[in-house]
Amino acid sequence: MDNIDRFGRKITYMRVSVTDRCNFRCIYCMPASGVQWRPHREILRYEEIVRIMRVAAELGIRKVRITGGEPLVRAGIVDLIAELHRIPGIDELVMTTNGSLLARYARDLARVGLNRVNISLDTLRPDRFRAITRGGRLADTRAGIAAARAAGLTPIKLNAVVMRGVNDDEVVDLAAQAKDGFQVRFIEWMPIGPLGEEFTARFVPGDEIKARIEAELGPLTPVRAEGPARVYRFADAPGEIGFITAFSAPFCATCNRMRLTADGRLRPCLLAPIEIDLKGPLRAGATDADLRRLLRQGIDKKPYAHGIPSESPHDRTMSEIGG
Ligand code: 5AD
Ligand code: SF4
Repeated sequence: MDNIDRFGRKITYMRVSVTDRCNFRCIYCMPASGVQWRPHREILRYEEIVRIMRVAAELGIRKVRITGGEPLVRAGIVDLIAELHRIPGIDELVMTTNGSLLARYARDLARVGLNRVNISLDTLRPDRFRAITRGGRLADTRAGIAAARAAGLTPIKLNAVVMRGVNDDEVVDLAAQAKDGFQVRFIEWMPIGPLGEEFTARFVPGDEIKARIEAELGPLTPVRAEGPARVYRFADAPGEIGFITAFSAPFCATCNRMRLTADGRLRPCLLAPIEIDLKGPLRAGATDADLRRLLRQGIDKKPYAHGIPSESPHDRTMSEIGG
C-alpha cells in the first residue's frame, strides 16, 4: 500500500502548519525574544498547500489538522479550510488553535467544513494566562471556546502543557472542566528547540498528573487510546481526561502522522530532524507524480522511534513545526 511505512504503520494523518507566526509567545513553545518570522515568500501559499494535500489524499491521507504557530493569524484561513474540505478523501478536518481569535472565526470555520478544534488552555487564572502566553488574555480564549461550542466544532479538546512551578497546581481545576463536556488533555512538556535547559526542573510526568487528579476527583477508568492520547473517564461523572506522554511513554509504534511545515517541508517525525523539501520542487514545476514520489519518500524515511531525551531536536521551535 502507498501509505504504509517500513514498520507497517499506515500513514493517514497530516498536520499542516500554515504559519510560523503567533500572537502568543507561550513559554514552553517560544523563546521570550529573538523569534524571527519567516518572510512570506518562504511560506507555502494556500494553492500550494491544497495541491500537496490533494496528492497526499490520493496517497491515503484521510485526516488533516491545521496548526501554526497560530493558524487564525493567517489571512484567508477560512478559504483554505473550504478548499481542503473539497478534496476527495479528506474526511476529517480539524484545527489546533490558542482560541484567542476563535470568537471571530468559529462560525465561518464550521460553515466551510472544519469538524472540530483543539484549544490550548494551560491555566484558568487570567494573570497566569498572561504570564504563560506572554501577553495573551484568558477572556479572549474563553470567548473562543464558547464560540467554538456554539458553532458545533465539537467535541472540543482543551490542551494543557503542565510545567512544575508554573501551572502544576492547577491540574485538578483543569481536569474538572471535563464535567462541562470537554475532553481535557494533559500534554507532557517536550524538550523541543532552544528551550531544553529548564526541562529537568519543570517536566511533570503524565502519571503524576493522573495521580493528583484521582486523589481529588476520584478514580479514572481507561476508555480507549485515541492517537497519542490515553483517554479516561470518571467513574460517576461525565467528561473525559486524556494524557499525552510523548516523553515518559512514547507512542511511536502506533504513530500514523506526518507534518507539513509552514515553509513547505515534509517532516515525517516531530522529534527527528528529517525533512523533505516540497516547496522547492513545487515552485520549480514538479508534477503530481513528482510530488507523490516526494511524499512517498517521507513515508519511507519515517523513523521507528524518536530518540529524546538524548537526541532532542534543536533544529526548529515547536511553532515552526506545528504543535
Ligand atoms: N511540549 C509539548 N507541547 C507543546 N506545544 C507547544 N510546545 C510544546 C512543547 N514543547 C503544544 C501545546 C500547544 C500546542 C499548539 O502545541 O499543546 O497547545
Ligand atoms: Fe503560539 Fe501555540 Fe506556541 Fe503558544 S503554543 S506560542 S499559542 S504556537
